[in-house]
Amino acid sequence: MYSTQIYAIHGETAMDNAIEVRNLVKRYITYERKGFLTKVKRIVEALKGIDFDVKRGEIFGLLGPNGAGKTTTVKIISTLLLPDGGYAKVLGYDVVEEASEVRKVIGVSLSVERGFFWKLTGRENLKYFGMLYGLDGERLKKRVEYLLDKLGLKKLGVADKLYEEYSLGMKARLSLARALLLDPEVLILDEPTLGLDPPSARALREFLVKLAHEFNKTVLVTTHNMFEAEMICDRVAIIDEGRILSIGSPRELKLKVADNMALEILILPSVATNLDKLVEVLREKTDVTCSMISDVNGYRLKLIVPPNRVEELTSISVRLLHKLGCSVRRVEVKEPTLEDVFIKITGKKGF
Ligand SMILES: Nc1ncnc2c1ncn2[C@@H]1O[C@H](COP(=O)(O)OP(=O)(O)OP(=O)(O)O)[C@@H](O)[C@H]1O
Ligand SMILES: [Mg+2]
Repeated sequence: MYSTQIYAIHGETAMDNAIEVRNLVKRYITYERKGFLTKVKRIVEALKGIDFDVKRGEIFGLLGPNGAGKTTTVKIISTLLLPDGGYAKVLGYDVVEEASEVRKVIGVSLSVERGFFWKLTGRENLKYFGMLYGLDGERLKKRVEYLLDKLGLKKLGVADKLYEEYSLGMKARLSLARALLLDPEVLILDEPTLGLDPPSARALREFLVKLAHEFNKTVLVTTHNMFEAEMICDRVAIIDEGRILSIGSPRELKLKVADNMALEILILPSVATNLDKLVEVLREKTDVTCSMISDVNGYRLKLIVPPNRVEELTSISVRLLHKLGCSVRRVEVKEPTLEDVFIKITGKKGF
């Protein structure tokens, strides 16, 4: 999946890392009004020393709730904000010392500050930024047309509509198109699917996976959507309150918390089955948590089981259910989700 190609790169970043972040610190100073005339200085510690690496050709997700520090991190890596401590490098270039080199190799799309011209159309905006980035003539025209097409703006029929008339989803697409104008090695995207309808979000996710896995681009993406992180990211860093709590592939992270699995058994009871008794007997015989809810297809039994007892408890339960007059329709073992990981490591209830 990852590139084995070795590029000649500048600086000291390990050869297979596209982004390297070490002990990154950021504080915001704000002034809060207290009473009518007084303002009180307050320091917000947005990043409290974070470390992570993004490998070449991978999709790396920063996953965390509102205010976790995701946008702050990507802004620093994109050279749009100065850190107060630590460093970040992109393809070996330091984001502070060598900011202009960094800007040549990245494409950035931020969720909020997009800075397009409201009175220009989508196509005109892309042409303008393309020229600003040094593209011209046929090259510029081809690239703009390709991106308008790829990001679905032509299909939506809005390439020649004024930016001010764009919906949230259209703005998100145009922003990604602009980030891709120079066909950058490293793509940095803050909440790229925010505002997109489900089919568009899905198409965009597929597009990102293709960029990384077929064209070997590196993608750093922020999201608060666990489902999205699980679907597209090769690795994920869970960030909360300015700290990274855990890093790994979604599978690795889930295994970390896999003390328990959910065993779900879909049953169709006979008329003679005593349903209350059934749960009671199951609990007694398996000695694990057991609950039952009715489902359009029948009844769903849920047993919380330790991973090493899945097989044993499946066969005990199925035998018992047959004995109690139930027909077993389906047995499923459900893995923990990234949401379970988040709840476990932060002690919070999810986002
Ligand atoms: N310009 C600013 N001035 C003061 N505080 C800020 C500023 N920008 C961000 N913060 C604070 O820094 C912390 C991190 O914010 P950040 O925008 O990085 O979070 P986030 O993870 O992107 O959240 P969200 O999911 O809501 O976009 C928050 O406490 C936020 O209130
Ligand atoms: Mg943000």
